[in-house]
Amino acid sequence: MKNIIEVKGLRKKFGLETVIKDVTFHVKQGEIFGLLGPSGSGKTTIIKILTGELAKTAGEVSVLDFSSKEFRTSYFRSNIGILSDNSALYERLTVNDNLKLFCKLYNTPIDRINGMLREVQLEETREKVVSKLSKGMKQRILLAKALIHKPDLIFLDEPTSALDPASADHIHKGLQKLNEEGTTIFLTTHNMEEATL
Ligand SMILES: Nc1ncnc2c1ncn2[C@@H]1O[C@H](COP(=O)(O)OP(=O)(O)O)[C@@H](O)[C@H]1O
Ligand SMILES: [Mg+2]
Repeated sequence: MKNIIEVKGLRKKFGLETVIKDVTFHVKQGEIFGLLGPSGSGKTTIIKILTGELAKTAGEVSVLDFSSKEFRTSYFRSNIGILSDNSALYERLTVNDNLKLFCKLYNTPIDRINGMLREVQLEETREKVVSKLSKGMKQRILLAKALIHKPDLIFLDEPTSALDPASADHIHKGLQKLNEEGTTIFLTTHNMEEATL
């Protein structure tokens, strides 16, 4: 399988502080790649660089054959999915209305919503207001949101870090199924067990 992500000699400085020091790795198409490291080791920074949210200081980065210069284009963004701390839902809207908005944003047919909710096993929440859902349920809806446009590659920044074991298990099962269907998964974690998903 070909490399879907290539990172060579990546470096990132914030002011005078170098937080990423010459990191090199690649991710093959179809892989589940777990980036394991303690808090503060630069995992979120790496995801932000790979998704165009932050500029690198030095090194070479390509994702899905796009060079880092192209990461801010909407075409690149329509090919990836992101679940991070910055991902959010409109608390006062229903799950359905939230997902409908994201379908519009990504030019995705809204008839995908049902199937997507089935994937995360939350079909029954479709007409519920988001503020009434548990944290674990919200995270699964965020996963559905990150996947609604069927990206080939998804980035997940500590997707289960604040969840109870049962909710984490739901997320892991969803990710494994997704991967079996061909989606490449890049996830960060500080949890050894999750790294061996
Ligand atoms: N925007 C920023 N400005 C300055 N320093 C930052 C910024 N973002 C992250 N850092 C620093 O970079 C280091 C790595 O952070 P981060 O990528 O969030 O690590 P992790 O996700 O592994 O916990 C930390 O020391 C953090 O304080
Ligand atoms: Mg982080």
